[in-house]
Amino acid sequence: MSENSEYENVFSGVLGENYQTIKLICPLAAKMSRLVGEAVKEYAQTHQQALNVVELGGGTGITTLSILLAADNLKVSSIDNAATMQQQAKVSLKKWVEQQRVDFIEADALVALKSMPDNSADIIASAYTLHNFLHEYREELVSEIYRVLKSGGKFINGDRHGLDDISEHTAMLQQEIASYFKVLKAENKIDLLEHWIVHLFADESENRVMRESIALNQLKQAGFSNVTLSQRIEVNALMSATKP
Ligand SMILES: C[S@@+](CC[C@H](N)C(=O)[O-])C[C@H]1O[C@@H](n2cnc3c(N)ncnc32)[C@H](O)[C@@H]1O
Repeated sequence: MSENSEYENVFSGVLGENYQTIKLICPLAAKMSRLVGEAVKEYAQTHQQALNVVELGGGTGITTLSILLAADNLKVSSIDNAATMQQQAKVSLKKWVEQQRVDFIEADALVALKSMPDNSADIIASAYTLHNFLHEYREELVSEIYRVLKSGGKFINGDRHGLDDISEHTAMLQQEIASYFKVLKAENKIDLLEHWIVHLFADESENRVMRESIALNQLKQAGFSNVTLSQRIEVNALMSATKP
């Protein structure tokens, strides 16, 4: 069995329908979750002590699972403010809850981070959450992420990172919308189609859109080094940064 299909089998087995749905409507989100896990794995390979990982916006647990599978020497505190989403993660990840490798915090991400001590996390990871936030909230969140991370700790975010070239970005959005119509019309999921289009307007709004160079600068301004954007796939990319 190839490494890829093995990964797919594990994810489908643990997350069931949730994983199939996300893959159907947003295949690149599933791919980004996997890339976040790979970045965590890379960090864990060079840091063999017990690692404390904080996840922002854990949702139904797709990225949480990817992080948990990345290494055995890590524990995850997964924060989400939506009880229904988090409940699904608690059920799917029961095995890891029992092993005390994951705990769930039902709270706003900024409120939860503010309650955490300075220099207490090795990794703060996230997927598809920060792009939802208003600019001022994100700015405050980034400085909290910096404060909570240990020196040498890493911030990893697989998310929508808008292209600086607005024409190119618009062309990609048009492709994205066309694919929602293609897939969801064929599945007769018109309600979901409406939901995605409405949500996309919020993602792309002037007071929220997370443009690549602005996001990179925001991390540098907060004090991070090695700020990089990699693995761009259409409007999605993996951002990582280290606290010196
Ligand atoms: C698009 S989902 C991504 C879920 C998951 N990270 C994944 O990769 O599948 C965004 C998640 O962020 C959560 N969220 C949004 N705003 C939040 C906030 N202010 N604090 C905590 N969680 C938040 C939502 O409830 C949702 O579960």
